[in-house]
Amino acid sequence: MIKPHISSRVVIFVITCSAPGKTHLIGEHAVVYGEPAIIISVGKRAYISAEKSENVKIYAQDINQSGEFSISELKEFTEKLQQLWDKCFETKNFSPLYSLLKNEHLGHIEAMIAKTMDELDLNSGFKLQINSDIPIGSGLGSSAALSVAVPKVLSELFKKNLTLDEINQVAYKIESLAHGTPSGGDNSICCYGGALWFKKGTPNVIEPLHLDFTKKNFVLVFTGIPKLTTGELVSNVRSLDPEYRDPRVKKIGEYTYEMRKCLVKPDFTRIKELMNLAQELLAELGVSIDVIDRIHKAVKEINGGAKLSGAGGGGYMVCYHEDLTLLDQTIRNLGYIPEHVELGVEGVRTE
Ligand code: MEV
Repeated sequence: MIKPHISSRVVIFVITCSAPGKTHLIGEHAVVYGEPAIIISVGKRAYISAEKSENVKIYAQDINQSGEFSISELKEFTEKLQQLWDKCFETKNFSPLYSLLKNEHLGHIEAMIAKTMDELDLNSGFKLQINSDIPIGSGLGSSAALSVAVPKVLSELFKKNLTLDEINQVAYKIESLAHGTPSGGDNSICCYGGALWFKKGTPNVIEPLHLDFTKKNFVLVFTGIPKLTTGELVSNVRSLDPEYRDPRVKKIGEYTYEMRKCLVKPDFTRIKELMNLAQELLAELGVSIDVIDRIHKAVKEINGGAKLSGAGGGGYMVCYHEDLTLLDQTIRNLGYIPEHVELGVEGVRTE
């Protein structure tokens, strides 16, 4: 809904859109190589309010940063990023792109906005206020949620009437500028919400999974901000010897197919085992850290399931146990906080 806001003499229309974060039940990293993943939206959202204005003004409330850019500046930035992306793709080394975004003030957000303006063919200014519940760089889809919320809010503001599928396509382009060659799973779940079976391909396979999470004992645990970005962690896995990496990637894929069947039955004994097996393979791929291994071991010892979620290197874990009190206590005993977050929530929407 567009909300009029009466300032001293003019009526300003402010529109707010939001998108949820996500957790990977299984399949992360392997999904980059064409294996499937099961991804679930979580009840923490990124909100963006937009109104027409001169130039492009951005205020990111949660990181307390702001910036103002001219339209031409943003056009040049998209061109520069696209040229760099092409070069990185050719050389199979995305580090120059990641350093550019890290060093630029509001780099990642600026890239999202610039790319959206290019895709939507926008030539006038606006003001965006970003406010997110999703911790940044934590494996919970903070960047993917914004990558769908930015095209959604600008499509609404400038009456471009983008469909969900079109928003998702723009979001994938935005995510590629930030992360090199992502699978597209993260932006898809933040766009469509619920739970998804996602398989990268031409075209991608994106199927909603009709799962009832209300009475299921999934718990999220934050293990700390990863030192590396998603793009860097994906690049690290890519640089492993294919003879070592590929059988592990394939095995994660097999477990993901089995997980889908177990969720339908449902067979929680096997669901927990599959979570643990996936975690052990992700650790072998080098994306786990000590804390995650410790929580995984402790939860496994009480017959639960626990794995990292997303790119790894820290961030959020997803855990499951029939006995929530025991699961919570086990996690708390290690000094971490179990978070009971709603799962399978609505995707991108206008507030
Ligand atoms: C990151 O949330 C998930 C990864 O599989 C990367 C991707 O799917 O693009 C690690």
